[in-house]
Amino acid sequence: MSVQRLCRITELSELGGGAFQLWFEAGEMAGLAQPGQFVHIQCGKERLLRRPISICGRRGDELRIIFDLRGKGTEWLSQRTAGECLDVLGPLGRGFRLAGRRILFVGGGMGTPPLLWAAQSVPEIAEAVLAFRCADRAILIGEFEAACEQTHITCDDGSLGAKGFAHEAAERLLAAGKAYDGICACGPRAMLKAVAETAARYEVPCQVSLEERMGCGVGACLVCACKTIGADGAEEYSHVCKDGPVFDAERVVWDE
Ligand SMILES: Cc1cc2nc3c(=O)[nH]c(=O)nc-3n(C[C@H](O)[C@H](O)[C@H](O)COP(=O)(O)OP(=O)(O)OC[C@H]3O[C@@H](n4cnc5c(N)ncnc54)[C@H](O)[C@@H]3O)c2cc1C
Ligand code: FES
Repeated sequence: MSVQRLCRITELSELGGGAFQLWFEAGEMAGLAQPGQFVHIQCGKERLLRRPISICGRRGDELRIIFDLRGKGTEWLSQRTAGECLDVLGPLGRGFRLAGRRILFVGGGMGTPPLLWAAQSVPEIAEAVLAFRCADRAILIGEFEAACEQTHITCDDGSLGAKGFAHEAAERLLAAGKAYDGICACGPRAMLKAVAETAARYEVPCQVSLEERMGCGVGACLVCACKTIGADGAEEYSHVCKDGPVFDAERVVWDE
């Protein structure tokens, strides 16, 4: 179930790494939200299409989002002030299934925020790999360290943590004999594909959160269609907004 409502901004600040965090009063939407779901936000009256942003935290009836400046919509969002209201539709989509004795969360760049809330909701079984382009782009490390049993950092250029990519860090853990009941990943598509391949090699169930351009956000317009493998093994189209954004990695057709 989702609702559309005006939500008062309670906090908007720069997080560093070029990212902004925004908390808003979400009313009943807060109680409905699950880690991995997203909200669809109207970014000014002149922009007809809402912008999808993952939910990355909850405190009482407030929800938190973290976003990068990409274009006009996110620029508009970053220029709001506390006390203003946003037109928000949510929570939308399917979130992560979180169960087992140990889950490895693998996040890349702006894919890390939704994993934070997921990890915070199962702290006793959470371990994280966080990958960034460089130290200047790193966000949320302290919060992951507080939420997880272990947090591993990696940067493409080696300026913080290990040098390399997210799937390489995950592979090192798996190769060292660490056992996970599941991997949950969010980040750029190339990273997700590499993490999914690594998970498959070690036979660990993997869920990935996909990103596609969106129109309606509720399964009515087909803008967010992506190719997946159905229960009968045949290729089909799924809606990232309604059937996802979280999918079992083995269902995703990576090379569309
Ligand atoms: C399920 C989901 C969750 C997301 N979560 C986050 C998040 O937590 N933090 C964050 O910074 N970004 C997130 N994004 C990406 C975010 O939606 C885009 O950065 C944002 O829509 C860009 O809007 P804009 O007007 O600033 O940019 P423009 O490029 O001016 O946008 C033009 C149009 O393209 C769409 N668009 C552009 N880039 C994307 C994109 N990567 N994905 C989907 N639509 C796009 C916009 O919605 C808009 O309709 C998420 C996307 C999806 C699909
Ligand atoms: S955005 Fe319209 S169907 Fe997904």
